[in-house]
Amino acid sequence: MRKKIIAGNWKMNKTFEEGMALVTEINGMLRDEYQGSAEVVIIPPFTHVNAVSRMLGDEKNISTGAQNCSNHASGAYTGEVSAAMLYSVGAKYVIIGHSERRQYFMEHNAWLAQKVDAALAGSLLPIYCCGETLEERDSNKHFEVLEAQIKEGLFHLAAEQFSNVVIAYEPVWAIGTGKTASTQQAQEVHAFIRNLVKEKYGDTLAQQTTIQYGGSVKPDNAAELFAASDIDGALVGGAALQSRSFVDIVKAMR
Ligand code: 13P
Repeated sequence: MRKKIIAGNWKMNKTFEEGMALVTEINGMLRDEYQGSAEVVIIPPFTHVNAVSRMLGDEKNISTGAQNCSNHASGAYTGEVSAAMLYSVGAKYVIIGHSERRQYFMEHNAWLAQKVDAALAGSLLPIYCCGETLEERDSNKHFEVLEAQIKEGLFHLAAEQFSNVVIAYEPVWAIGTGKTASTQQAQEVHAFIRNLVKEKYGDTLAQQTTIQYGGSVKPDNAAELFAASDIDGALVGGAALQSRSFVDIVKAMR
């Protein structure tokens, strides 16, 4: 069975103290309340990655991630953070190509392909994001856009490398808007993505690939989304900033 992953992307939220308090709460609640098998990933800002991963230590089924990394391994790139640096402070995952990076920082597919390579070279597992805008969906271009994002960002990888990649489908129109994709809309896209993976890498690898959904996931819609056959967890934004709502989303994954 493929791995189910619930990740909380804090984006640019929480001071250090606030972040530590949140992780302490989440960790305690999960210990008491969650018997399921999903892996939980806490993805705070860079500044907190070290402390969060130390705090979680050898905690079973909870790990730490980062929200971005450089496409370079090291060198004169002021302000950048490499995959190896993040790995060295305990990160296991890194988000690559979040729609906010694509939109505000002009990160495009070819650039993101380099970041995927850098992440893997630095021993991090990429969570590669794809998703269409409202305009693209309304003009029925979403499958075309998603296909380009997946192929151009990921399909240069050898099968063995690809087996370390998690995909997150995050329709841009559902992020932070309170407007979730319906389970049917999300399932349709997830099945489409899995089929692209199957065509490129074969059915075995396609069946093993974790495909998360992201975009206004909340405690009251998570269970329905997770019941869909190709939805393998969630990348949660707003609801991950509060322990109760985040843990309730985790608990929706049985
Ligand atoms: P929201 O859950 O706030 O819609 O954010 C989703 C997201 O962008 C996670 O990466």
